[in-house]
Amino acid sequence: MQTIRVETPSARYDVFAGSGLLAELAPRIERLVKRLPRVFVVTSPEIWALWSEKFLDSFDEPPVTLFLPAGEQNKTVKSVERLTREMARAGGDRGAILICFGGGIVGDVGGFAAAVFMRGISYFQVPTTFLAQVDSSVGGKVGVNLPEGKNLVGNFLQPRAVFADTGVLGTLPDRELHAGLMESVKAGIIRDRALFRFMEEHADEVLGRDERALERVIAASIRMKADVVRRDERESGLRMILNFGHTVGHALEAATRYKAMLHGEAVGWGMIAALALARRRGTITGSQMERMEKLIYRYGPLPQLKVHAAKILAATGHDKKNVGGVRRFVLPVGIGDAGVVEDVTPAELEAAVKYMLVRARTEGRGRGAS
Ligand SMILES: NC(=O)c1ccc[n+]([C@@H]2O[C@H](COP(=O)([O-])OP(=O)(O)OC[C@H]3O[C@@H](n4cnc5c(N)ncnc54)[C@H](O)[C@@H]3O)[C@@H](O)[C@H]2O)c1
Ligand SMILES: [Zn+2]
Repeated sequence: MQTIRVETPSARYDVFAGSGLLAELAPRIERLVKRLPRVFVVTSPEIWALWSEKFLDSFDEPPVTLFLPAGEQNKTVKSVERLTREMARAGGDRGAILICFGGGIVGDVGGFAAAVFMRGISYFQVPTTFLAQVDSSVGGKVGVNLPEGKNLVGNFLQPRAVFADTGVLGTLPDRELHAGLMESVKAGIIRDRALFRFMEEHADEVLGRDERALERVIAASIRMKADVVRRDERESGLRMILNFGHTVGHALEAATRYKAMLHGEAVGWGMIAALALARRRGTITGSQMERMEKLIYRYGPLPQLKVHAAKILAATGHDKKNVGGVRRFVLPVGIGDAGVVEDVTPAELEAAVKYMLVRARTEGRGRGAS
């Protein structure tokens, strides 16, 4: 097991990554809150069916279970209202704690419920998808979607601790695992050369869910994010580099109405577009680009893209991260470093998107996203 300390101006907590954590949950939480108060767990029915037995093992008194059905369509204010009302009815007070046991959706919605219930109660993240383990459970961004757009209502509230159990990933569908791994590929590219190399050399073990290999990748990815969040909790500067691959990635998700591909798959393609831009600007060499592309495809497959360039380009205009219409882009500088450029022209963006679409014709697999 590895322990990663996260320190931000607002909080300080540990992220534990490794095998067997689920079975030790209650005593580990108790160490942090002294005496277990009213404990709530928010999870999805699917995850609970698979893992409740192991989850409940370490609790003398079972927590009150709150269910959030799977799916982005349930990441709403309405769900937060329902969850907080259930907590109120079950006698939850300011001393209550909430455990978010699920993927990024459970973590974002549950974390937001914890942030607003009684003006904020303590919560713990027990992420069960690869994406949630390496990304969404760490950093304190919590929130829900509006019909007008994703993650438009939310806040920052850091959890009291994160427990990323590699064993739980055993039941995760392949496609979810591969998509989540794109965030680790991203971590390697923007800030961790050693992680990048490890992922090159140990792809078989990682994809075969060898728990030690997973732990290595998960811990390094979390460490990278923790280090960035420590320096810039509220995304005013450095934290922006975490958006590598996300400008075009978000545009792809929006252009396909969030139905055709998983977030990580969109980010995989978004990274390909960003690499093309970086190559044109000369921040990476041809052989570095080749190596990075190869790693992205290795952790694929990425879906086919049957979207027109114009549609993707139009969608980038709505990227809420482009402050004041500035064409902001994160570009890798070699392998293991990245910077933010503010002056990407429409022509550069178009060339990058077109490159991505060409590559999708030969590297894209499956039904395809249109
Ligand atoms: N807060 C942040 O910083 C942050 C960062 C990135 C993404 N996000 C958010 O995360 C969400 C996506 O999260 P996600 O990719 O984890 O998807 P998800 O939460 O929808 O989970 C994906 C699917 O996997 C199932 N599942 C989860 N764990 C499983 C397991 N161990 N075994 C079998 N099935 C399992 C879930 O029931 C669900 O059907 C998005 O809403 C995104 O906006 C937030
Ligand atoms: Zn992401």
